[in-house]
Amino acid sequence: VQVGRFAIIVHGGAGARGAADPDRNTAGCLAAARAGHAILQAGGTALDAVQAAAIALEDDPVFNAGTGAALNADGDVEHDALLMDGATLRAGGVGALRGFQNPIVVARAVLDGSPHCLLAGEGAARFARAAGIVPCADPRALITDNARRRWEEERAKGFPGLRGASGGTIGAVALDRHGHVAAATSTGGLTGKHPGRIGDTPLLGAGTYADDASGAASATGHGEAILTLLLTKHACDRIAAGAGAQGAVDSALSELGRVHGHAGLICISAKGELGIAFNTERMARAWIDANGREGVGFGA
Ligand code: GLY
Repeated sequence: VQVGRFAIIVHGGAGARGAADPDRNTAGCLAAARAGHAILQAGGTALDAVQAAAIALEDDPVFNAGTGAALNADGDVEHDALLMDGATLRAGGVGALRGFQNPIVVARAVLDGSPHCLLAGEGAARFARAAGIVPCADPRALITDNARRRWEEERAKGFPGLRGASGGTIGAVALDRHGHVAAATSTGGLTGKHPGRIGDTPLLGAGTYADDASGAASATGHGEAILTLLLTKHACDRIAAGAGAQGAVDSALSELGRVHGHAGLICISAKGELGIAFNTERMARAWIDANGREGVGFGA
């Protein structure tokens, strides 16, 4: 562990190029990376940094998380989100949560105030209300015109995206000055998903993982493929076995061929190296590395 170095990387989802605007996607990612980096710079924790980055991305309607989330088969929003603290190996997540603007904040409340790792559905909503998190006055405020248009287009075609990458899931991983890593991921999942479906995002080792002994990773793409292969745990295990962050995500991605999956991953090692890999047309991302250098990307 290299105490003193700090860095952050975020993604705004892997998917087809489609109508996604590269400038808006990368600008949203960079703003989120800066929000997390400010916390790291001030000596804050990686856990707080990834949460701040995730909130910024959930609130940006461009991304499939928080406001702007993909709609399920009934045309409703159901959010999945999880964050994990590499220092303590504690995690908090929510699945198929309805009616909250920032599911990552509910996930954080699960981490801080519950003996459980993951709460789903109405039980998760009840927990959030009891923790003092105010639900949306009108859950329809989470539905953007774009999400509705996409749902209508895909419904007319029988929801073909259920077998592909969702596009727009968000995630962040960070290393703080104290040598701790953390990861956060949040999504509306796949357009047209069955109500109650929970994807990879809030499942430990699938969409999200963090361990100070190796690093932290966040995945995006086709949830069923990612969770079948436990891609973020795979990446962290590669680092523990001596791989660099880039080698670790490349190795995880190479597994996807076994299930014909489409996905992307970001990763940070406990040394502060960054890794980025995806086999989709695009994965919006932004980072601020351990030397304070900013970068963004969209396509390969
Ligand atoms: N990777 C997001 C999902 O499939 O739900």
